Amino acid sequence: MIYHTPKACVIGHPIAHSRSPIIHGYWLKELGLEGHYGREDVLPEHFSAFIGSLRSNGYIGCNVTLPHKEAAFRLVDRASVRAKELQVANTLWFEGDTLCGDNTDIEGFLANLDDRATGWSKKLDKAVILGAGGASASIIAALKERGASDIRLVNRTLARAETLAQRFGPTVHATEWSDLAQALEHADLLVNTTSLGMKGQPDLDLDLASLPLSALVTDIVYVPLETGLLRQARQRGNPVADGLGMLLHQAVPGFEHWFGKRPTVTPALRALIEADITGVAP
Ligand code: ATR
Repeated sequence: MIYHTPKACVIGHPIAHSRSPIIHGYWLKELGLEGHYGREDVLPEHFSAFIGSLRSNGYIGCNVTLPHKEAAFRLVDRASVRAKELQVANTLWFEGDTLCGDNTDIEGFLANLDDRATGWSKKLDKAVILGAGGASASIIAALKERGASDIRLVNRTLARAETLAQRFGPTVHATEWSDLAQALEHADLLVNTTSLGMKGQPDLDLDLASLPLSALVTDIVYVPLETGLLRQARQRGNPVADGLGMLLHQAVPGFEHWFGKRPTVTPALRALIEADITGVAP
């Protein structure tokens, strides 16, 4: 019998800066498992063929990132409920000959807040989400799962928020950026899903005066770890959760599917990725 090391990868374009190999490599070592996790830079026009020959190239599964997440959903034989809801798949694995797909961003977002702000969804009525792109859709789905009854979707381009809100039904309300102050009143949660605050981009410049001090503020941007929004919220006394945990937690289900053990997100793993972000050894 020929023995092959189980092999998975992350597929994207570009992909050079993905931190997924560090995360999965850490878990493989920590759990003493034989396996390999690499990066594959694949152009959109080659993606379908790449997935078609995934197995013959020795892969037991993969993560999929920009710009391939929608294409991945269309190519799987069986999609999870969460993948179907968003029409997006970021984690692929085989069950027999069946290629399965899940969207683990929802789980990653929820697990991060459960970890960093225990009990946060016990009182979750009103939530404000900034941004209406692909990341925003995952956050809406996550908050709906936890029973948010009033989700305000605030976006620079109102039409985009309206289109997205319509997909999720009457609890999601597209909101003009100029109505932010009113949207923040009585909110339990504020989430940034825009690219503002990311390294190389301008910071979000918000007036948080109407946001209750009890509201949890979180950002899916994690480079830098503390965005301008999180700093502003922390300084005025709001509880905050940074976005790094979402990246770490969304990786858990894939690892379990491919390598057979459920890994945990530990402070040591977090420190390793923080060090990679800040360039300072842990
Ligand atoms: P992703 O899939 O990662 O969410 P995206 O689809 O490019 O990325 O969406 C980026 C989000 O950031 C959008 O909500 C975008 O607002 P528009 O829909 O109006 O483009 C928001 N965004 C980006 N730059 C912005 C800026 N300078 N001011 C306000 N919002 C901005």
